[in-house]
Amino acid sequence: MATTGYRVLAPQDLGKDLLARQFALDVLNGLQESPKRIPSRWFYDDEGSRIFQEICDLPEYYLTRAETEILERYAPAMMRRASGDALDVVDLGAGDGRKTGIVLQAALAHARDVQYVPIDISEGAMAGLVAQMGTQFPQLHISGIVGDYADALHYFSRGKTRPTLALFLGSNIGNFDYPAARLFLRDMWEGLNHGDLLLVGFDRKKDISRLLAAYADPKGVTARFDLNVLARINRELGGEFDLKRFDYHCVYNPVLGAIEAYLVSRERQSVRVAALGRAFEFEAWEPIHLEYSFKYNPTDVHHLARATGYEVVSEFTDSHEHFIDSLWRVRKHG
Ligand code: AVJ
Repeated sequence: MATTGYRVLAPQDLGKDLLARQFALDVLNGLQESPKRIPSRWFYDDEGSRIFQEICDLPEYYLTRAETEILERYAPAMMRRASGDALDVVDLGAGDGRKTGIVLQAALAHARDVQYVPIDISEGAMAGLVAQMGTQFPQLHISGIVGDYADALHYFSRGKTRPTLALFLGSNIGNFDYPAARLFLRDMWEGLNHGDLLLVGFDRKKDISRLLAAYADPKGVTARFDLNVLARINRELGGEFDLKRFDYHCVYNPVLGAIEAYLVSRERQSVRVAALGRAFEFEAWEPIHLEYSFKYNPTDVHHLARATGYEVVSEFTDSHEHFIDSLWRVRKHG
């Protein structure tokens, strides 16, 4: 009989409290830096997650469709790289779980004893995911962890012996600059055993006009997505941002190999944030940096793997060659 459930690493109230304080601190620090910035991890409250699903359905946002095509076509081939009859599938940032479902289907066809370990910071998202996957795959063991990536990985990896396939899909790694990506992948490496697998989704460097179209959609969904972080400051920190006084603007920086997203103040203004006990001054046309979305060539991917202790087992791309899912094996010796 399958077991289904999840564990909350910190008491939820404490977790929420810590998160609220971290948000306040990041806004306080970020809006005093030059250039001003707000880290993109704060995009994903309930409203932000909902708008992100809208982005995934945009005709211009090719990433989700490209990765879905890759997984539908190659998930069985990926599973053949996993040995034995038992497999833990660890999922960092499952989103709505559609892509994970494809992987789990292939895992269950390949191994008899599959355990699904989703990791998410939101208990609401976790409850939904566990219920959904439990219904879709009755034979699946589910053991989710509510916590941030680092805590959850640490918890998961204590005394771990089962072979593991960890998933970091969707070009989520694109939000990290290179040093942060290396740190994150090395953290993962610490939590995994020699021989374990990691599947990472990368958006490829490509025609810049196509990149820009995906992040500056004509319906303005991406602009709403970014402006939502100001709305979140209004909601949670008593901010007084007038969203109409900010424009969304994105560029591709070919030296970094990254999309950079900004909100730009249309005028000189002063914006109070009650919970921070102060106001923030904006010059006319002053930017707030919100997001990086790094793009990768296959050689960039190989360098990153080797620099962080992994061997590239194989890589899979879609028919348009827009996206790469790269399958890595952890090397700790030999
Ligand atoms: C969730 C980080 C993969 O960079 O493509 C989409 C976020 N921002 N449109 C990306 C995003 C604007 C997305 N990731």
